[in-house]
Amino acid sequence: MSRFEFINEDASFRVERPEEISYLYFPIASEKGLKSSVTPLLGGDAKISQNSFLLEPVSSENLHNNRSTRNFWVRLKDEGGRDHVWSAAGASAAQEAARFTDRQDESEVTAGLMWHRIQREEKDLGLISRITSYVPYDANVEVMIVRIINTSSRPQTIEGFAAIPIYGRSADNIRDHRNVTSMLHRIRVDENGVFVKPTMSFDERGHQLNHLTYYVTGIMEDGILPCGFYPTVQNWIGEGGTFTHPRAVYEDLPPAGPGTEAAGTEAVGGLRFAPVTVEPGLSVDYVILSGIDDGSEDLAALRERFNTPAKAFGGLSIVQNYWQEKANVHFKSADPAYDCFLRWVSFQPMLRRVFGCSFLPHHDYGRGGRGWRDLWQDCLSLILMDPKDVRSMIVANFGGVRVDGTNATIIGDGVGEFIADRNGISRVWMDHAYWPLGTVRLYIDQTGDLDVLMEQMPYFKDAMAMRGFASDEGWNLGQGQQLKTKAGEVYKGTMLEHLLVQNLCAFFEVGEHNIIRLRGADWNDALDMAPDKGESVAFTYAYAENLRELAALLEILKDKGLKEVRMFKELRSLIGLDPAVYAQAWRKQEILDDYAKMVLHEISGETEAVDIDKLIQDLTAKARSMFALLRAQEWLAEGWYNSYYDNHARRVEGIFGDGSVRMMLTGQVFAIRSGVATDEQVRSIVEKADEYLYDPSCGGYRLSTDFHELKMDMGRMFGFAYGEKENGAVFSHMTVMFASALYKRGFNREGYKALKALADQANDFEKSRIYPGLPEYFDQGGRGVYHYLTGSASWYLLAVLTQQYGIGGEMGDLCLRPQLVPEQFDNDGKATVSFVFAGKPLTVIYHNPEKKADYQVASVTLNKEKTAWRIPRAAIEALPEEGGVIEALLG
Ligand code: G1P
Repeated sequence: MSRFEFINEDASFRVERPEEISYLYFPIASEKGLKSSVTPLLGGDAKISQNSFLLEPVSSENLHNNRSTRNFWVRLKDEGGRDHVWSAAGASAAQEAARFTDRQDESEVTAGLMWHRIQREEKDLGLISRITSYVPYDANVEVMIVRIINTSSRPQTIEGFAAIPIYGRSADNIRDHRNVTSMLHRIRVDENGVFVKPTMSFDERGHQLNHLTYYVTGIMEDGILPCGFYPTVQNWIGEGGTFTHPRAVYEDLPPAGPGTEAAGTEAVGGLRFAPVTVEPGLSVDYVILSGIDDGSEDLAALRERFNTPAKAFGGLSIVQNYWQEKANVHFKSADPAYDCFLRWVSFQPMLRRVFGCSFLPHHDYGRGGRGWRDLWQDCLSLILMDPKDVRSMIVANFGGVRVDGTNATIIGDGVGEFIADRNGISRVWMDHAYWPLGTVRLYIDQTGDLDVLMEQMPYFKDAMAMRGFASDEGWNLGQGQQLKTKAGEVYKGTMLEHLLVQNLCAFFEVGEHNIIRLRGADWNDALDMAPDKGESVAFTYAYAENLRELAALLEILKDKGLKEVRMFKELRSLIGLDPAVYAQAWRKQEILDDYAKMVLHEISGETEAVDIDKLIQDLTAKARSMFALLRAQEWLAEGWYNSYYDNHARRVEGIFGDGSVRMMLTGQVFAIRSGVATDEQVRSIVEKADEYLYDPSCGGYRLSTDFHELKMDMGRMFGFAYGEKENGAVFSHMTVMFASALYKRGFNREGYKALKALADQANDFEKSRIYPGLPEYFDQGGRGVYHYLTGSASWYLLAVLTQQYGIGGEMGDLCLRPQLVPEQFDNDGKATVSFVFAGKPLTVIYHNPEKKADYQVASVTLNKEKTAWRIPRAAIEALPEEGGVIEALLG
């Protein structure tokens, strides 16, 4: 059985016999766009976008059988003069047949942030291969350093063959016109390798002239070029051959030379190297480069960068340092495995930034873009780790808000690029307007930059109007994608105004229980079948919290001297109403409809100033009405809060007549976070969640109980098997938010339990069967799936740094409010965290010598000078570049 261990504080790790575990994959990628996945047998794929895959695209199920991917072959003679062929990647038919027998290779993966090494040993032949893969952060090329070591006691003459099939086209063509698109290929060989430049690219944009070149080149030792090439699949595998038994190697088929051209057929980067004699104990190195050139790269210069093994290893160190520095949060507690896990979690948001939500084997959906929710959640970790461009990013993202409070859902590649949906009326996710405020608030707290609220930006405009219930017949693309005034000018409003628009519109869009309508879905994308009568109580708690938060933010602005808030005139119709109307769902809906009609095509352009006190009162009254309603109506006698109404307007949760228990985590999370749940209710919720949702064999708190019903009036999640994805799996995202909500309310022991259960499951390799990090969820058997690209990593980091370790900004000052539990302090009673704040690297060391559970920050020093638990920003800004050390005594 495979064994896993972390090997250093950088959280690099080692797994023995990784190929004995299914579905393992590892990400390596560049900032420039190349995104690769590598499996223990060097499977996986590589691409820069949906339309440009270097290696054939793979989904998780292709990982067991797809061999049209990287390989490196060795041919040699044994002492008796017999020919032997061995795949240094472990991917030959013969090695596959030997797996799980005493003839199998010994193997081991070692990997760290963005680099991967697989070592294999063939004892009878006396060979070890060590293949190191990485992608330079600044180039679209995969570097593969192959070292073959002679472990026998005699000199061995080795012939090496690199073989990387070049797919070179859109992922759409994996089934759609796979063969036809091979006819577009133009293949050329020069002394360095094989180059494929298809004439056109066939994809959803139509038939485009292709500008990309896909290639594989390589050298042996210090710059020796290949001695021959196999540029097509037929040249390489031979008639009747396979990728795991290529006839070119086994039967010594003659290679082609530089200058060879081929067209209209499937390509392989097949490189053959001259025989080389390796003395016992010594080795021979090869460096193979496979990449995509979009015209921006000087390929000769790129080859020059990696044309010796020493340079290629030098490139590896650069990559290793680069990503270690990027993931600039470090934890040191009594639990090194947890600390290592957190290292990977803090790295995952960077993977999300590079990979989006697509492009790893489980993530075989989407075309590379990110959703609205992702934009805001990914910002959370950027604010903590790399805040320099976040301000402009946040401001630009607000340009995606429509004047009716909905938002653009097709998001372009550039920052703040939103695309109109021309295919009719798009879906409305009712949670979308909730997320921006939390992100903005975190940004303001971490930076003190309140002025950001007064930044002005336009509203997004397309044909969708009336919150998705009508389209604006008077609009066409020619008018531009920004809301205009009657005078034909683009209207710009403050960020504060955008936030008001979002949250006020949500407040009024209620169903028959006076709860905000579910519409296309909420956070749970799979609740997509209750658009008519469905209501999301879960996000009604959330919006109630937002209205209260907005009021709080206005209080701060008022303290700074702001007297009135300017807004476009029409928005006034949602403010200053008699709170009595809030009890009437139909009236709320009517008010919203009137507003949405007023702003359907354009707005007047007139603005009005609203007295800040009046606005605060109004928001507070709205929040109050929601809190009161939610508490009175949604608390269940069973001891937790209801989360939804289905498409028949029936309450979803509770214990029903047949004894079936229906409990969902989402509603509990937001009832707790918002403060709708009283402390006593929180205790009851935790008790019930422990009883009905907690499953230590799968990572902790499940998203729901088993409804045993294909609920066609709620959503596709009920079609999933119970325990998969949104149907009751331990779904990291919501489990982390549960923990975060608990910390927010001071239930640190309970919050820790939820976070720790996820980490323990992930770190228990025998159960989770993933490389370290937080997967999207744990499946029915406890395996981690949809690894790496999950928004939950941002939330996990946020919860650990700002709540567990309690390191967070408050209007730009640094505050220490630790909620660590006693067992997190090491033998000396210490727990340490390093991070960057106000541009300065800081280390906070908490001392809890008696390991108390109940403590407060008793005294604090910054670089040995006495200070307080709230450290003014100016004091941190005044620190030297190397930052400072903060020591806090807990007592
Ligand atoms: C995914 C989506 C997220 C969505 C969630 C629940 O979670 O990315 O937007 O809210 O499913 O449907 P993730 O993979 O980010 O953990």
